[in-house]
Amino acid sequence: MDHWSSAAYSSAASFVPKLTSTVVQYLAPRPTDRILDIGCGDGILTAQVAAMVPSGQVLGLDASQSMIKAAQEKSASSNCTYRVQDCAALLKSAPSDVLNGSWDKVFSNAALHWILRYAEPKASVFEAVREALKPDGVLVFEMGGAGNCAEIHAAMVAGLIARGIPTAEAHAASPWFFPSEAWMRKTLEDVGLVVEKLETEYRPTKLTPKTEDGKGGLEGWLKLMCAPFLDKFKTQKEKDDVVRWVADLLDGIITRTEDGSQWMGYVRLRVIARKSA
Ligand code: BEZ
Repeated sequence: MDHWSSAAYSSAASFVPKLTSTVVQYLAPRPTDRILDIGCGDGILTAQVAAMVPSGQVLGLDASQSMIKAAQEKSASSNCTYRVQDCAALLKSAPSDVLNGSWDKVFSNAALHWILRYAEPKASVFEAVREALKPDGVLVFEMGGAGNCAEIHAAMVAGLIARGIPTAEAHAASPWFFPSEAWMRKTLEDVGLVVEKLETEYRPTKLTPKTEDGKGGLEGWLKLMCAPFLDKFKTQKEKDDVVRWVADLLDGIITRTEDGSQWMGYVRLRVIARKSA
């Protein structure tokens, strides 16, 4: 099911494409680079990258039809195009002009924790990246690392358990995979990529302000990002009740007394890995 809406994303998670200076610096776009962006969402960051490669090309892939539609409407240009593609099945289903060893760089921001959750096996995503890259090409990405937003993750699982969903089923409803550095290093090396940089940063991140319509703030974030958890419930009222319950639980944990702002414990895992020449 396509849970994504670019309007909801800009109300609840507009900070995601903004906090990207380090990963874009690691990408180090050169004017002629051909760059594949995995999990490009609504293309806001993809278009910024495309502007840095005026003689190159950028192709953004995302499983969400609504995000790709938004990207095509708002963030496309002569050197920046988008396609619907289930990136969890990249190795099995990407067209031959993607897995053809022609890309200088493969890039991903804030997407691999969703993609790897559903990829089977998880390493297949990195095998596909290896097939896409030119010899000596690089994979540069940032994603949630082990412990990312653990308070929200735990509260959401607890919200399901409190409504009678068995513990294992509540955990299995999580749409995210937040790997450790050790898991990531081994997985990349096992598919033959050479890890040049692998780092974790704890980056507390301020949520967008609360809004009357519930689209911003913590509730807006929960409704958008936790939609696969909420699919466990049939009615909108049940979904709204669990969001309210989780938001109330977290209020006392993530709210700062000095100004009422709410902060989430984002943990970012950043990697540069190269395909051998
Ligand atoms: C993110 O897109 O960065 C994110 C998604 C789910 C949980 C935490 C962070």
